[in-house]
Amino acid sequence: MKKILLMLVLTVVFLSSVGMVASKGMESSDFDDPSVCRGCHSDIYDQWDGSLHSASYTDPLYLKLEEIASEETDGLTDDYCTKCHTPIGVLSGEVPPIGLDNPNLGEISKKGISCDFCHSVNGSTGIGNGAFTVSPDGTKRGPHDDSKSPYHKTEFSDLHTKSEFCGMCHDVSHPVNGHPIETTYTEWKEGPYNTGDPKTATYCQDCHMTPGITQFESNPGKSTSMGPEREHIYTHYFVGGNVAVPVLLESEVHRKMAEDRLKSAAKLKLEVSDAKAGEEAEIKVKVTNIGAGHKLPTGLTEAREIWIEVIATDSEGKKIFHSGELDENGNVDPGAVMYHTVLADAEGNPTLKVWKVESTISDNRISPKETRIETYHFNIPNDAKSPILIQAKLNYRSASQELLDLLLGKDTVVSPVLEMASQAKEIGAGGVEASETPGFGIILSVLGIVAAFFFSRGIKSI
Ligand code: HEC
Ligand code: HEC
Ligand code: HEC
Ligand code: HEC
Ligand code: HEC
Repeated sequence: MKKILLMLVLTVVFLSSVGMVASKGMESSDFDDPSVCRGCHSDIYDQWDGSLHSASYTDPLYLKLEEIASEETDGLTDDYCTKCHTPIGVLSGEVPPIGLDNPNLGEISKKGISCDFCHSVNGSTGIGNGAFTVSPDGTKRGPHDDSKSPYHKTEFSDLHTKSEFCGMCHDVSHPVNGHPIETTYTEWKEGPYNTGDPKTATYCQDCHMTPGITQFESNPGKSTSMGPEREHIYTHYFVGGNVAVPVLLESEVHRKMAEDRLKSAAKLKLEVSDAKAGEEAEIKVKVTNIGAGHKLPTGLTEAREIWIEVIATDSEGKKIFHSGELDENGNVDPGAVMYHTVLADAEGNPTLKVWKVESTISDNRISPKETRIETYHFNIPNDAKSPILIQAKLNYRSASQELLDLLLGKDTVVSPVLEMASQAKEIGAGGVEASETPGFGIILSVLGIVAAFFFSRGIKSI
């Protein structure tokens, strides 16, 4: 018995010395399950449930990329990826190994970025790569200095009220060569929403934790029936641009909010000069990032795609010009104007495998409040019938078809496309006229296909 105990102690000492045992020997049971918080903070629970934070360790796209990363690096990426995607799993030492079939993985670790993780954060060591420090001592840190709860101690935390809180995870750089991969916090910090003065700055929380999509909007009420009435209660939907994962989580609320958010992020203005059959048409498409506090797009931008589609048709419906079309493999026309980043491996070849990234080939994303003007020219054939309808759209999808094919296999899932903004005009009938653009029908049916695919494979979160 003594011998076994000694071996156990030695093992622990060895593991601690190589940094494999979680600091201060935390256990996942030191953190409360979100269902405990739900008992009193039910609205906040319902907002968080169905968010990508609640699914950060069950998101099928994440799990698949994590698996490929692990295979290709002999497990070197295991504790790196998981630090942000299941912080409690890593702090408690349950993770690595990676994957949902890990026998050590507790229920709380599966629930990703949960209530008690965020509210046990007691400080940070800086920005990016999971720079949080955590103390699951029962004290819940938050925005109030006068908050009293019969269940837990409370403490005011300035960090929770600032973008730096989100910046601990929403800036990702390569752990070995330091190359930036995701830079949402840095984009915000360098942009116009960071005025440097807390009275006028618009923090991440102001857009992502209030009913206002592009600015602070108050949400008066109570965070629990036993709490006081307050001028504002921070919401916990944490909605970005992802419409596909909320469909998997069967959260219509989050899906709809993501759609609204994307439609509030950008403005598109179409400028055309009049031209007739046999002449050259010139079109200008102006795109402004009116609503995002960071670049458009942000986050995983080697995968996200925002692009302009321009279609010109004559009055008989004959297509004269099309830029930004999807080809038969679901890839966007390579000649299209696309806002995203292209990252490269050591040989300088484009890669979607972030662990291989050593440099950036291009980054043409639109900064906050910036306007881009893109110009198109094409000839209107002599036999085209006036008037000519010109439509310009700004499209978004969370993942290129190439990434989905890599992760889920070719011809399995169609990446859903969402229209962020559009405008249409008619020319060639003696002037320029505004016109209606066709709507959204196809997009929603595609989302249905995505969901059906995941359900058929039994991939469903929590
Ligand atoms: C028995 C009811 C109850 C339970 C269970 C409960 N809380 Fe609270 N909590 C309260 C009350 C009451 C307040 C005070 C509300 C106020 O001041 O507006 C509060 C306040 C808070 C605050 C604000 C703290 C501050 O200083 O700004 C946070 C954060 C919080 N709770 C997180 C949690 C988390 C996380 C859980 C689950 C681990 C949880 N609560 C479980 C009742 C509860
Ligand atoms: C990603 C981190 C994160 C997660 C996950 C999270 N919160 Fe919060 N929560 C915050 C931040 C940040 C604030 C304060 C925002 C501010 O002041 O700008 C906050 C505020 C609160 C407040 C105070 C609300 C108010 O305005 O009076 C309560 C209560 C709370 N959270 C409870 C919860 C509960 C319960 C859950 C889980 C269902 C949860 N939180 C999940 C980050 C988080
Ligand atoms: C512990 C790390 C961590 C912290 C802290 C954190 N996040 Fe996140 N957040 C993530 C991860 C990981 C995801 C992506 C999960 C996935 O898709 O698998 C995410 C997703 C999101 C999304 C959804 C993105 C989309 O594509 O729709 C939003 C919005 C978001 N976070 C906002 C915030 C805000 C605002 C804060 C600060 C109040 C914050 N996050 C704090 C790690 C974190
Ligand atoms: C002025 C309002 C505003 C501020 C401030 C803001 N955001 Fe956003 N955010 C948006 C809008 C609008 C979108 C949707 C467009 C998009 O995807 O870029 C978005 C999208 C996102 C996404 C999803 C990106 C994607 O396409 O996958 C994440 C993640 C995110 N924000 C995190 C943050 C974080 C972290 C901060 C603070 C550093 C922040 N946001 C500050 C408005 C804001
Ligand atoms: C520093 C924290 C952090 C680390 C480390 C990290 N991620 Fe993430 N990850 C995030 C955040 C934040 C988002 C959300 C960004 C957005 O929505 O665009 C995200 C989003 C993702 C997504 C997109 C999910 C979706 O549904 O669109 C995938 C896939 C992903 N991460 C895989 C990985 C892999 C694989 C690794 C390790 C090689 C890794 N992440 C390491 C923070 C991190």
